Amino acid sequence: MSETKPEGEEMPLTLIAPQPPVVDAAPKNLGWHLPTDWSAQRQIAYELEVATTSDFAAGSMVWTTGRVVSDSSQHVDYQGPLSAHQRYYWRVRIWGDAGAEASSEPAWFETAKLSAADCRGEMIGPQTDPGAEKQAPSVAKRFTLASKPASARLYITSFGIFRCFINGLRVGADELTPGWTSYRERLGYLTYDIAEHLQAGDNSIEVWLGDGWYRGEICWPAHRIVNAYGDRVGCLAELRMVDEAGTARSVVTDSSWTSGLTPVLMSGIYPGEIYDARLEGETGPVGGVDVLPLDKSTLVAQEAPPIRELPHLQPVDQRSIGPGVTLVDFGQNVAGAVKLTLSGERGATVRVNFAEILDAEGKDLNSTSFRGAKVQLDYTLKGGGEESYQPVFTFMGFRHARVTITGQARLVSIESVPFTSDLVETGSFSCSNPLINRLHENARWSLRGNFLDVPMDCPQRDERLGWTGDAQIFSPTASYLRDTAPFFRKWLRDMVADQREDGAISHVVPHPNRYHEANMPNFYGSACWGDAICAVPWTVWTFTGDRDILAENLPAMVRWIGYLTSMSPDGVRHPPTRIVERGFTFGDWVQPQGSTVKPNPNTGDDFVATAYYFASTRTVARAARILGETAIAEQHEALADKIKAAFQREFITPTGRLLYNSQGAYVFAFANDLIPEQWHDKAIEDFKRAIYRTGGLNEPGLQLGTGIIATAQLLPTLSKIGLHDIAIKLLLVETSPGWLYQVKRGATTIWERWDGIDLEGTPATSMNSYNHYAYGAVVYWFYHHLAGIQADPQAPGFGSIIIAPEFHAELAPLQASHDTRYGRIEAGWQVDNEGRVTYSFTTPPGTKARLKLPAGAADITMDDRALSREEAARSLSQEGLPVSPGRRTVTLRLAA
Ligand code: BGC
Repeated sequence: MSETKPEGEEMPLTLIAPQPPVVDAAPKNLGWHLPTDWSAQRQIAYELEVATTSDFAAGSMVWTTGRVVSDSSQHVDYQGPLSAHQRYYWRVRIWGDAGAEASSEPAWFETAKLSAADCRGEMIGPQTDPGAEKQAPSVAKRFTLASKPASARLYITSFGIFRCFINGLRVGADELTPGWTSYRERLGYLTYDIAEHLQAGDNSIEVWLGDGWYRGEICWPAHRIVNAYGDRVGCLAELRMVDEAGTARSVVTDSSWTSGLTPVLMSGIYPGEIYDARLEGETGPVGGVDVLPLDKSTLVAQEAPPIRELPHLQPVDQRSIGPGVTLVDFGQNVAGAVKLTLSGERGATVRVNFAEILDAEGKDLNSTSFRGAKVQLDYTLKGGGEESYQPVFTFMGFRHARVTITGQARLVSIESVPFTSDLVETGSFSCSNPLINRLHENARWSLRGNFLDVPMDCPQRDERLGWTGDAQIFSPTASYLRDTAPFFRKWLRDMVADQREDGAISHVVPHPNRYHEANMPNFYGSACWGDAICAVPWTVWTFTGDRDILAENLPAMVRWIGYLTSMSPDGVRHPPTRIVERGFTFGDWVQPQGSTVKPNPNTGDDFVATAYYFASTRTVARAARILGETAIAEQHEALADKIKAAFQREFITPTGRLLYNSQGAYVFAFANDLIPEQWHDKAIEDFKRAIYRTGGLNEPGLQLGTGIIATAQLLPTLSKIGLHDIAIKLLLVETSPGWLYQVKRGATTIWERWDGIDLEGTPATSMNSYNHYAYGAVVYWFYHHLAGIQADPQAPGFGSIIIAPEFHAELAPLQASHDTRYGRIEAGWQVDNEGRVTYSFTTPPGTKARLKLPAGAADITMDDRALSREEAARSLSQEGLPVSPGRRTVTLRLAA
């Protein structure tokens, strides 16, 4: 046989590995990026191979697709055999036109447990456990190995949160494991490669167990709850070790393990931690363990990337404010922890308190935004040289820390340790306005701090809950910034698990009150909040083109619509005003005028709730069409028509006025196409008046007047109806309410309310979180409208791309990128002194793109060639001008 290489060149091809790479079922949605400078115009065929060794030796091959004639590079599902505890390597070869070929390096995925039967060991509860809000217990086991294993894995989870040590070394670098799920239905376990931890001879494993979300204090004082999921912490673990000969042996949690106590004297998500380093290495009184009941069918391999540390931040200011007291400013509000390095006498103590802001004089902490959460660390030194401490079982939201030392000790250093769910970054943005760049940065930081296994409202006060409304409105922004698919898939599974029998979705997911209904009766079913069950899968679908996310959630979406319909026989929602009543809705929460709390909205709850009822019904109909569920689609199309007609009857007068003449009302109505054609122009004028009226009689008059949910759609809706100039003016407002006010006041994350600190520097006294991403949802508009990077709604997932920028000389030059499953999309524009725009964009190979330019664009060239009259007309039309992948540069003149 000839040794010569096949015709055509070999180019590297990048594989998109499943996230996380350890799975408990056949991986779906395998895909790859085509090489960027490939000589072929398009892929014509692919072959995907899977083997159990990285050399793909003949005996190790387990599956191949064969050569598949297709231009698709995404959504290949593994259909080969699968056994538990096995690493699989996969690689792809593609063929293009003109004889081009390309192939990838191997990537891998690995199986953990494929069924409950594979899950060995018992959930064991330490007998030394003193109960919630007390000293953290541990479980331990010693074992002997004849030789160091060739490979070894630890499969581990807990009731509560765990930290595991093998032979004294911490396993993994993940924080707050196993994260937060609706534990009784779904408990995630983690997989660690522990071969390097083990040795021939004696070995030990020790697992510390903290209360965490499982049984620690959760919810604000009026509804405070402990033991939300159970009153005993526990651990389930299997160390699976394979020797050179391939023989497996396991050490599993069972009644032979011992229990003890740890140096963590108290820990909790809200209160913080008390840690006595003098107890390190001493387990205290040793006890046995009890086997706790566990339904193993609830176990799932960790579904989303774990919480990890980001690079540590050093203080930007550190000063003494009293004997032994140091005030530290890290310059950035984060969620995470601090790492202290100390030196001093055994028994000396250090207390650390935290705050997001300082008091008005800048002399000390102002921790009012923590409300009922104590957020305090107490550490006792063991003495004898430098020692470091970082809390084990808690996290806090803070920018500032105050360190108080009692006794003979010295603070050698203190660092801020930001945490985040380790999702792949996918977005970048900059423009010429530094305030807007900082706003974008603040949204990124709020995402980092609030995406801690669950999308939280805030990371600092006595909530930190998975408020469904906040996450829903921020999800499109988040999806430009990160690969959110695994994160939201996991959270949606909890949402479905917590869905009530009548279809209502809980206000927070996971719902810690699920088994304590009397504590917060009827904490379910608000418009927008509950509609997350429709909107979030739709967002993931838009960004990934993954039909499975729709298929998986469709039944729950249908049940949600059933719940709404049960209260709205005539098609209009009439929410009650008391939170405990069925059908209550938060409405357009935190509207800036008047009170920040209900009731005082200027957009009626009935209006908001009916608009959402319509939007979700339409989403269900669309999802059902995509999935070929014709009966469900038809039923929901008819229902959507009915709701729309009812909405128009109820909320639009015969002369075309909206019943609530507020900005939010126009946003909800236009965003959801609820205004009849005949009243369109009139409603646009009314909308403008609502925006200018809000600012009062003074110039410039215009002012934003929406709460958290309408604000998220405000600028996109203005753009949708052609009011670009008003959108940009609202964005550029530097007073409150407006996005840039807080930036000018030094915000480093997004605030919960526009006036979190007033002009005199006085902080708001309630609802004053300084790290609440909801208003950061405006960042969606930066990518979608300003840069013009859009997924095609007809063919989501960015295989088909719409390039539809809006140009504003004030922001030029502007640059953005978004990493899709097909590769990176880049777009940026400049505007010269004569108002001529140069817009450059790059779309990845293997995609289709259509360019849609703003109305009035003239003298259009592309890649130095003037567009023909017909091409120009298409670029200004609804369907847009098809453009081939690669880098294109368009120039144009804007309408005066
Ligand atoms: C949370 C929110 C949440 C809201 C419900 C607040 O306390 O922080 O962001 O959505 O309650 O309206």
